[in-house]
Amino acid sequence: MVRTRLLPVLVAVGLFTGQVTSLATSDSWRDVDLGQSSYVGGSHNLDPAVVDSPHFGLRWKVDFNKGETHYARPLIYTPPSTNKQIVFLASTENRLRVLDAETGEVLKKRKLAEPFPLAEAFCTQVSETLGIMGTPTIDPETDTAYFYAKSYIPYYRDVTKTGIINGVYYFYAVDVNTLEDIEGFPILIDGLHADNDPRRYFIGGTILQRPSLLQLGDIVYAGFGGLCDAFNATGTIIGIDVKQKKVTTHWVTQAGPDAPFSEDWTAWHGGGPGGVWQSGQGLATDGGSIFFVSDNGGGSMDETIDTTPRRGNASLSILSEVVARVNPTADGGLDVVDFFRPHNYQYDDEKDLGSGGFSLLHPYFNSTTVSRIGTVASKNNKIFIFDAYNLGGYRQGSNGTDAVLQTIPVGGEVFGSIGSYPLDGGYIYVAPLRNPLSAYKLSITEDGTPQFVFAGQSEVSTRQNRGTGIPTVTSFHDEPGTGIVWLTDPDAGLDAWYAVPGEDGVLKKINLPTVNGANRYSRPAFGDGKVYVVDGEGSLVCLGVL
Ligand SMILES: *[C@@H]1O[C@H](CO)[C@@H](O)[C@H](O)[C@H]1NC(C)=O
Ligand SMILES: *[C@@H]1O[C@H](CO)[C@@H](O)[C@H](O)[C@H]1NC(C)=O
Ligand SMILES: *[C@@H]1O[C@H](CO)[C@@H](O)[C@H](O)[C@H]1NC(C)=O
Ligand SMILES: *[C@@H]1O[C@H](CO)[C@@H](O)[C@H](O)[C@H]1NC(C)=O
Repeated sequence: MVRTRLLPVLVAVGLFTGQVTSLATSDSWRDVDLGQSSYVGGSHNLDPAVVDSPHFGLRWKVDFNKGETHYARPLIYTPPSTNKQIVFLASTENRLRVLDAETGEVLKKRKLAEPFPLAEAFCTQVSETLGIMGTPTIDPETDTAYFYAKSYIPYYRDVTKTGIINGVYYFYAVDVNTLEDIEGFPILIDGLHADNDPRRYFIGGTILQRPSLLQLGDIVYAGFGGLCDAFNATGTIIGIDVKQKKVTTHWVTQAGPDAPFSEDWTAWHGGGPGGVWQSGQGLATDGGSIFFVSDNGGGSMDETIDTTPRRGNASLSILSEVVARVNPTADGGLDVVDFFRPHNYQYDDEKDLGSGGFSLLHPYFNSTTVSRIGTVASKNNKIFIFDAYNLGGYRQGSNGTDAVLQTIPVGGEVFGSIGSYPLDGGYIYVAPLRNPLSAYKLSITEDGTPQFVFAGQSEVSTRQNRGTGIPTVTSFHDEPGTGIVWLTDPDAGLDAWYAVPGEDGVLKKINLPTVNGANRYSRPAFGDGKVYVVDGEGSLVCLGVL
């Protein structure tokens, strides 16, 4: 469904260039693009000649509460009523804030339901509270922001106040101008039986909503995965019809009599899990189908690996290390229409696909035989290149190998996704752990198969710790030669490079002001000539022309 809105004509004069652009086209009201190609387009007034100059620096920095952070990425939006660009923030403490995108002034704030305390989960590395983790999505037709907040109801299911199974999720819809609830929201998402396996009961405490939200027509979809790998969680996709104000889709990745299931909520991987976490990367869509990646689930225990080859269009009810394309059905369900699974997948060998999200590349990346290209990169140290409409099934290649367009070995684990740049011939970028940022250029073989060829890399590698972000690409008005690749790293902060590598195979760095660290698996958000990023201390930093 195509959403349109008549934007009031509001113009800003592009710095140094005299370029006239609409301010609102520089908005980022959801986490990158719908395809999750990580190309955010050319409307952010980021000219590499300006960014790589002393004129580009630290505009402002806003601190928050100690221990509070923002895994949900900042959204940049211009409500038509004010025509003033804002930054919409949703934190791990279930706090919302609206900042003036120009000055950083906090215009509005609100505390929602009590955040779930991390101390109750069996892990430590995240943040003190697990409130809002998935990036919200704003509907520009209604100025409404949608998101999930993790909370708890004291003594709800057991005698402890905040124990795991007292954890719940609320689905919020708030007006971005006032931060007040839209009538009929929030909706308590709890105690629902899955449509495709009614035994499975949704207990918010045992599950984590991490991927960025996707709005498709009136439905807002969200992926759920395991919480710190514990409990009996099952990978879940919930769809909420925001007009009808109710859950229409409650679909699990492990369904049917053969799927792992446990009534013991403490059972490690008892529900599969087949989680959908993707290091926070959102579900991708072409406007009709949804693409996502599940982590290891049933049928993949070492001793029971099912090695029977299957076509991608074979019906599949237990998704384990699977890249899936699903179509929403008329009754609110999801139908797996195509899938891919690596021929050598293993149960929980720390090399599963689930750390990666699916990227549906811009149609610029096409050939006579492939209309849309998809990619997945993950902890199994490879980039898989797919025909998005023929993902390849399981063991469908020669001698039982992977029937994908291409497999590119990379030197380390990848969390999230690749970045892409649909100009200058077309490039994709990957930033594996403890490796350089590498660029691969599109080429087409004589028989029309798209292939990516190594084209260059950065001089410095990503650092020692897991948490490198997703390469994200801007251009200046979609003009060739103006691409910038942006990348966060918990140790290195924010870095940027010219998108096209030099003849010497080097991705040339752009001089940026120092940002002290970054959140794990994050990326910057882009406004009008400005770049917003959460640093390692949890502060929101705004870079722009001084
Ligand atoms: C987990 O256990 C609870 C009971 O404690 C049950 O209601 C739920 O359906 C189980 N979930 C899965 C995914 O196995
Ligand atoms: C799957 O695809 C193959 C080859 O394109 C086709 O022959 C088969 O009928 C399809 N199966 C289903 C269940 O659609
Ligand atoms: C598909 O590829 C061709 C050849 O490179 C290119 O000319 C065309 O613009 C591409 N299509 C789109 C929609 O970008
Ligand atoms: C096919 O796979 C088998 C088992 O993995 C292997 O032993 C054999 O060498 C392979 N053959 C070819 C032609 O690659």
